[in-house]
Amino acid sequence: MPVILGIESSCDDTSAAISVDGVIMSNVVANQSIHAAYGGVVPELASRVHQQNIIPAVQQALLNAKVSKNDIDAVAFTRGPGLLGSLLVGVSFAKAFALAQNLPLIEVNHMQAHVLAHFIDEPKPKFPFMCLTVSGGHTQIILVKDYFDMEIIGQTMDDAAGEAMDKTSKILGLPYPGGPLIDKHARLGNREAFKFPEPNIPAYDFSFSGLKTSILYFIRDNVAADPDFLTNRMDDICASVEYRIVTILLNKLKKAALAYGIKDIALAGGVSANTGLRQGLTELCQKMGWNCFIPQFQYCTDNAGMIAIAGHYKYLNNDFVGQNVAPLARMPFN
Ligand code: KG4
Ligand code: ZN
Repeated sequence: MPVILGIESSCDDTSAAISVDGVIMSNVVANQSIHAAYGGVVPELASRVHQQNIIPAVQQALLNAKVSKNDIDAVAFTRGPGLLGSLLVGVSFAKAFALAQNLPLIEVNHMQAHVLAHFIDEPKPKFPFMCLTVSGGHTQIILVKDYFDMEIIGQTMDDAAGEAMDKTSKILGLPYPGGPLIDKHARLGNREAFKFPEPNIPAYDFSFSGLKTSILYFIRDNVAADPDFLTNRMDDICASVEYRIVTILLNKLKKAALAYGIKDIALAGGVSANTGLRQGLTELCQKMGWNCFIPQFQYCTDNAGMIAIAGHYKYLNNDFVGQNVAPLARMPFN
């Protein structure tokens, strides 16, 4: 009955979670609102706020799970990929805690953990399944053959889907992070109001930089013709942009799933909180007769619950690392 402490600090969320025998007993996330004023994550500030939040987050996670630090069997932490200064705080904490408590350390790849978040709740997907992981930093189609046997079959060649959401919202004058605000406006707008281009990218890869540029020119030209354009048409613009991003993602996912003959389809990463994407994927799966898996919202965005669950499966495999481990900003997938 392993008790795992999970630690996540790869970007701007400080998180600690406890899993007991593969069940998440607590998942505490401290968000950093400080970045809103800057229109994006400021790495120097992120690491400083992680430093402030990490101990209180761990204490709260222990309290919520009703677990003492002496009950813990191993410490799982995000080694990468992510912002180096942010990762350093979580990795250093995990090492110090493990040293003090004489515990083994488990390194976790943040992107694999987003996929493994599907093993927190029921129903769980069956291997092999396909996972579309969409976050502020990544856009990947992953063929998941086993817990730690995953193959990236498609990815973005430039911006990530969440980045496209956030950059669009910046162009529209909305605060960071803009994804949730685009979602809110899109619910009130007409997704057919404006047509944005779908890039012609081979195989299962993505590109969002051309879309960003076309939105920039579209807004510039329309605001020049009508200074009230943004105020009057915000809902329609957001609905049209979101619809384009969602169709780009789902068209590639459909193509990949058909090519590989996969029927269990999963969604992961912060952008999976998007209402249009969740609806679009649910409808696609119904139409194709596929099983659709979308985690609870708290396990979609960055969280330590997914790190603890990944740690649980690694613990069962006796997959530990030594005290000389260091973070990797660009951690390879396998
Ligand atoms: O996975 P995540 O929490 O952090 C990264 O690892 O990047 O993803 C954050 C991303 C941001 O780009 C944010 O704007 C986007 O997820 N996001 C959304 C929504 N909620 C979060 N995008 C669209 N609609 C949402 N409801
Ligand atoms: Zn993430």
